[in-house]
Amino acid sequence: MSKLLKKITIIKPDDWHVHLRDNEILKKISQYTGKFYKRAIIMPNLDQPITNCLKSMSYRRRILNSMKPNTTFKPLMICYLTKKTSPEELKQGFAKKIFVGAKLYPKCSTTNSKNGIKHIKEIYHLLKIMENIKMPLLIHGEETDPNIDIYDREAKFIENTLIPLRKHFPELKIILEHVTTEEAISYIKESNSSYLAGTITPHHLMLNRNNMFSNGIQPYLYCLPLLKRKKHQIALRNAISSGSKHFFLGSDSAPHFHQNKINNFGCAGIFNAPSSLLCYVSIFEEINALKYFQSFCSENGPNFYNMPINKETITLVKKPHKILKKINIGNNVIIPFLAGKKLDWSIES
Ligand code: DOR
Ligand code: ZN
Repeated sequence: MSKLLKKITIIKPDDWHVHLRDNEILKKISQYTGKFYKRAIIMPNLDQPITNCLKSMSYRRRILNSMKPNTTFKPLMICYLTKKTSPEELKQGFAKKIFVGAKLYPKCSTTNSKNGIKHIKEIYHLLKIMENIKMPLLIHGEETDPNIDIYDREAKFIENTLIPLRKHFPELKIILEHVTTEEAISYIKESNSSYLAGTITPHHLMLNRNNMFSNGIQPYLYCLPLLKRKKHQIALRNAISSGSKHFFLGSDSAPHFHQNKINNFGCAGIFNAPSSLLCYVSIFEEINALKYFQSFCSENGPNFYNMPINKETITLVKKPHKILKKINIGNNVIIPFLAGKKLDWSIES
């Protein structure tokens, strides 16, 4: 008797946090996001950040042009907040659906964040407007004070910045992105608020900080926020296996050229777009939580952002899939997460 192939069909997911970059990188990598996801929130931290409507519209066009013809993929654009952001631009951009939200990068917290925010109060006037017009705020939640241990930056951000900010703007919709700690999970769960949610990456679910230092230092596992202790990885896994509506998919796929990863000042970022959904399904299966796979991938996000749930579906099959080893871009290469390794799941062809 032939053994039945294990399959799972879900509503086509959205990726609520991805870096597609620009120019030749964009052209080579956007297809991977387009294959798995119907919509994606495109991070605005380009070398020249997306700080106004004009830049955003033109970037959106470049993204669509980079996709396969007849794509139905929808990029969702975000405004990069600076202390100079024009309130009018923010209002108009949201009203005209050019922006679906705005992003707070604490200054010098990560890639291309030098134009970010030094003191949160610099943008309280913008946050007030966002609260009024119901425009979501996406947050890279790490304190940047060099005196704070790098492993504590997320927890300290919650304590020092996020809690006061939420007291001040109780009806501001906030997404704490790529949460990595037990503290973030508990804070979101205990808040139990329709104004607060978190995204979780596949790499923070699969790995912990030991993996970054096994067999030598592994630059390809360097991302921000850093991978944390195992107990935090377990807290993230428990969050998704609890079926909580406050968490959803955000891959944080963030490609960098090999030469910029392997460098005296190597860049932070894990390029997981070619396998992100397959990684998520493997984790949900491993922790016996497949019954919540669809809500995490395809329902909790649109419900939080007040957007329709997709109509298309996608089928994944339990069949080995080998992740590509590299992507050549001119004289450069980009190495994906888990390059050359095998996963148990593939997309149905
Ligand atoms: O690891 C990361 N890479 N974390 C971020 O917050 C930004 C991203 C990037 O843009 O490279
Ligand atoms: Zn990111």
